[in-house]
Amino acid sequence: MGYYLVEGGKPIGGEFAVRGSKNAALPILAATLLAEDEVVLENCPMIRDFYLTLDILRALGCRVELTGRTAVIDTRQIHDVKIREETVQKMRSSILFLGALLGREKRAVLGHPGGCAIGKRPIDIHLSAFEKMGVEIQEEEGLFYCSAPHILGYQIYLKYPSVGATENILLLAVKAEGVTVIHNAAREPEIVALVRFLRACGAEIYGEGTPSIMIEGVKSLHGAYFSIPFDRIEAGTFLCASAMTGGELCLSGVEKDDMETTIDVLEKTGCRLTFASDRLWMKPPKKLKSDFSLTTGPFPGFPTDMQPLIMSLLTLAKGTCMISETVFEARFRHAEELCRMGADITIADRVAQIKGCEGLIGAEVFGTDLRGGAALLIAALAAEGKSVIHGAEYVERGYEKIEHAFSFLGGSVRLME
Ligand code: UD1
Repeated sequence: MGYYLVEGGKPIGGEFAVRGSKNAALPILAATLLAEDEVVLENCPMIRDFYLTLDILRALGCRVELTGRTAVIDTRQIHDVKIREETVQKMRSSILFLGALLGREKRAVLGHPGGCAIGKRPIDIHLSAFEKMGVEIQEEEGLFYCSAPHILGYQIYLKYPSVGATENILLLAVKAEGVTVIHNAAREPEIVALVRFLRACGAEIYGEGTPSIMIEGVKSLHGAYFSIPFDRIEAGTFLCASAMTGGELCLSGVEKDDMETTIDVLEKTGCRLTFASDRLWMKPPKKLKSDFSLTTGPFPGFPTDMQPLIMSLLTLAKGTCMISETVFEARFRHAEELCRMGADITIADRVAQIKGCEGLIGAEVFGTDLRGGAALLIAALAAEGKSVIHGAEYVERGYEKIEHAFSFLGGSVRLME
């Protein structure tokens, strides 16, 4: 189990080119199964979940070549349709292989996903949509056996705009007979990225980024070149780290529309942000301020993935902030660890009250999930003295060599393995 050793108190600032998005790359990797010749993906994030997903493709029989940030994937030789339980539990996004395998092979076997550190995370919305589209699902000894001799287009109403369910339905519907409409679809930028990739492969899809997505099934999809868009959560993480440590930061490779709610919150804390083309400059105030409330929600709401990072930032802001977490029921585990560094946070059910403190103090703390771990890391960068952050393997799932990136920007972080 790796940990980070951090010597806090140094400003995080300078220029940083944001890397490819984890949450866009993983569904696109699953979608490559639908293409009937080679796919080339550029700007791939070199993170643990990306490598794990490439391993899934290899285990299914695909040829995968990785050169720098470019992956070439050829799925023509696949010989397996099973995603094992350990794989699904290690990485939830592997449930997206269900839609892709069904679309490709008309059958799939998937291990039960179970819960995880941030909540129960059921897949009922995915499965009920699949059944409506003609997929037969049998659950036996922790495995879902799915088959679909005929996949039929359908009008699907999601009870919640689930990101994963919208992606899974898209993956199935592109090869269905007839038209599928997803009502109350997720609108996240990562959905838009997936649709753009599928369209580059020849899919007929309309309305991505809106609550209604229409998909006209096609007989086959071909290969494509595609560049993975920037990671808005990585961008937000670095902005929070700079704001907390008093550094000035310039990010490149970002898009304003995908980051609006995060930028709004940073502006409320007194940071000044300026966009020009694909660059974003941020100058923090002498003292951050709060006295507002914040609610996480599906896009265009405030992203739940940014909640732990903003909470970390608010521990140092003058005033009191309330954060309501509406997306995942158990996503405050980082709060207790932040308190061990001197933060003043109280939790009641799904609402956290954060009272700004004068300064954080280095401590030994434990990350238990990806964004929660990153939130502790940026708190340690801002804290006085040394910190030990356990749970580096969670952080590595979604951040590429974060210790190098923060060191490059002036921080003192070492990964100890
Ligand atoms: C994706 C992201 C994750 C982000 C989340 C919300 C990836 C790889 N992961 O996760 O980083 O935090 O979107 O923006 O892209 N739900 C159900 N039944 C279902 C599906 C979901 O009840 O069948 C519930 C979940 O338990 C959760 C909420 O809906 O409470 C949102 O989940 P969802 O949008 O599906 O998130 P993920 O796709 O798992």
